[in-house]
Amino acid sequence: MTAGRQQQRVFSGIQPTGRLHLGNYIGALSVWAANQARYDNIFCIVDLHALTIPEAIRVETLRAARRELAALLLACGIDPARSALFLQSYVPAHAELAWLLACVTPVGWLERMTQYKSKAAALTTVGAGLLEYPVLQAADILLYQADLVPVGEDQRQHIELARDIARRFHNLFRPVFTLPEPLVRPSGARIMGLDDPTVKMSKSLAEERPGHAIALTDSPERIRNAVMGAVTDSGRELRPGELSPGVANLLTIYEALSGRPRPDVEAEFAGQGYSAVKRAVADLVVSTLDPIRRRYLALSADAGYLDRILREGADRVHPIARATLDRVKRLMGLV
Ligand code: TYM
Repeated sequence: MTAGRQQQRVFSGIQPTGRLHLGNYIGALSVWAANQARYDNIFCIVDLHALTIPEAIRVETLRAARRELAALLLACGIDPARSALFLQSYVPAHAELAWLLACVTPVGWLERMTQYKSKAAALTTVGAGLLEYPVLQAADILLYQADLVPVGEDQRQHIELARDIARRFHNLFRPVFTLPEPLVRPSGARIMGLDDPTVKMSKSLAEERPGHAIALTDSPERIRNAVMGAVTDSGRELRPGELSPGVANLLTIYEALSGRPRPDVEAEFAGQGYSAVKRAVADLVVSTLDPIRRRYLALSADAGYLDRILREGADRVHPIARATLDRVKRLMGLV
């Protein structure tokens, strides 16, 4: 923890692209919301990251998507009295620090990133921004001297890279950044697709395949259909110790949303038929997401309130970002 601060600082970010799903909620948002009282929290809607695949940008919807995401984060329990919530592009220090850090980051480190490789493989033209994506993410985190970064498993490599970039900066110049630690939940940090439990539940697959994900704003009926249609295996009843990936994924969802220990969950469902297990999971997902959807609908009708929260969040974090950026510029000979 940085000297002089009473609480550890948490920073995390989320992209305003696609529809948020149960994986985002379990792996990230529920963790952000649950830990708010323990930490000094900064949460960022990373609209600059959303530009890294320009073919996917729908200009007319990006503006609205940022506000909708703010409404959804508040609906998931982010409390503006406890946590600063803001848009990345409103704080220019993010882009500025990203450039300074890019100058100390070996290209080979970026080419090795798993997400870069898989996203680049699907594109005919790869923008330089996609390669630099994790440098901007490092800037997000390092600007605020964050101690902890709550994320899903897929982001762990990016947090490791942020640490490596910080260390390299320290070796070349002088120590200035807090080295962040990923905060990854032991179970539920990688929720798998309902239609294919060998791949991570993702926003992009959700757009192509109706049974893949549960969106946070789905109706109870859609949620029930998605869970009841989830891929399991050719067995009939649940046997702990012999769980196929699809059944294990359903139990992980149940475990995460109920907050009960895994052995209790397995004991409760041992010997039950898969459809009974699915019904229990569907009930729990519906009772978790329905209040979120209702709060989201109410909040998203109040654009003025959302804009005010985002502006106040940016005002709160701006001085912290500015202080780090000034020190970095001084160390690099710019001031
Ligand atoms: P993004 O927007 O893709 O995802 C937001 C969060 O959701 C988690 N997540 C999952 N967790 C469990 N199971 C899944 N199937 C699943 N899918 C997604 C992600 O791990 C993430 O925590 N690069 C980041 C955004 C970012 C960021 C940052 C994060 C930008 N700057 C600084 C932390 C700190 C991203 O694209 O997340």
